[in-house]
Amino acid sequence: MTRRAIYPGSFDPITMGHLDIIERSAKLFDEVIVAVLLNVDKHPMFSTEERVEMIEQAMPCGNARVATFEGLLVHYAVEQGAQVIVRGIRAVSDYEYELQMALMNRRLEPAVETVFLMAAEAYSYLSSRLIKEVFKLGGSITGLVPELVEQRMREKVKGQKGERKRR
Ligand code: PNS
Repeated sequence: MTRRAIYPGSFDPITMGHLDIIERSAKLFDEVIVAVLLNVDKHPMFSTEERVEMIEQAMPCGNARVATFEGLLVHYAVEQGAQVIVRGIRAVSDYEYELQMALMNRRLEPAVETVFLMAAEAYSYLSSRLIKEVFKLGGSITGLVPELVEQRMREKVKGQKGERKRR
């Protein structure tokens, strides 16, 4: 039987912490689907297409692929024939929310198991939200996101500044 896992998230944008979890998952499962939630945030930094493209370019593993989903995650997991949902867990503070989601998902679909993985310590404080905040305020995010993502963030902010000037 193919062991297929889904690694869901908003990935706005993908960070080195996410990539670390993808790599670890790819070693544990035959197939990993990195599933980007559609329309998660009303004001995302990147469109779903941009996020998918960046993940595709940053992802090193042959047995991992990117997809998008909407609606309930467990429905998507069943539709894809995945037995496992992977979630990265950082500090204890993540645990409460993750536990709630895992238990709700189990209630909705008992056949799908949630597995928590820990990223390398170096990435244990990373989040897409913090990356965006630091970047927008002029702090360095080098080494915390793939180079391509940093470049795209620079272009995005430049584009937004240009737009504001034209208005
Ligand atoms: O990267 P995030 O924002 O922490 O990911 C959250 C995500 C996408 C895993 C979660 O919001 C989700 O699964 N959304 C799909 C809708 C759903 O199934 N909701 C019930 C969860 S118990």
